[in-house]
Amino acid sequence: MDNLINIEEYSTQISKAVRYHGYTDYNYGKCLTEAIVEHKPKQILEFGSGIGYSTLNLALGCYINNMGSIFTRDIWETQSVGHFHVHLKGNFISNIKKFPDLASFIDYEVADYNVWLNSGDTNFDLIYFDINNDGDKILEIYHKLNVKENKGKILLFEGGHLERNNKKYQNVRPIFDPLVQETTNLTLIYNKAPGIIKIVL
Ligand SMILES: C[S@@+](CC[C@H](N)C(=O)[O-])C[C@H]1O[C@@H](n2cnc3c(N)ncnc32)[C@H](O)[C@@H]1O
Repeated sequence: MDNLINIEEYSTQISKAVRYHGYTDYNYGKCLTEAIVEHKPKQILEFGSGIGYSTLNLALGCYINNMGSIFTRDIWETQSVGHFHVHLKGNFISNIKKFPDLASFIDYEVADYNVWLNSGDTNFDLIYFDINNDGDKILEIYHKLNVKENKGKILLFEGGHLERNNKKYQNVRPIFDPLVQETTNLTLIYNKAPGIIKIVL
């Protein structure tokens, strides 16, 4: 492994270079890096690449491990923030290019999470997803993937902030709904916003 100071510096550089509007805490990226270092997955699948902050932090884990590939997917619709139109895919590409050592671990493509989920494709060791998660989405992916051949694989997902995770919105099950917690045996591994939640299949 490179010395730890360089890794820490890399992590800071990613946080400075890539800011996602709406997020207030950027240390959650370190948590993603640490999860990759801990589990050493060969195939990492990410849905919700956005502007690349999470992707780069996952890639930093691969860089430390000197192994692994990230297949990151997003529909990259243009977002409107007030009068501004945010071109997520353009931002993603320019952010990834700022870190050539990390970009070599990253494969990106336009793809819809729901199409993948219904495809039965289980070619992954670890998944990270951040696509406006809620309790029903967590239950859905858990039930689809909780089969024998996926035993021991890791699901990581963006868990918002505690208020969102607990609050019942109309027709949307919160992430910390008792049914979700009991069914999936999830653990909160980063508890600021955006929190990071882990499920071991
Ligand atoms: C909060 S952002 C992700 C931020 C990203 N992880 C980052 O660090 O920049 C959520 C993303 O989910 C994507 N998304 C929403 N629904 C999706 C779907 N069905 N399939 C793939 N991506 C989706 C959006 O286009 C958006 O880029």
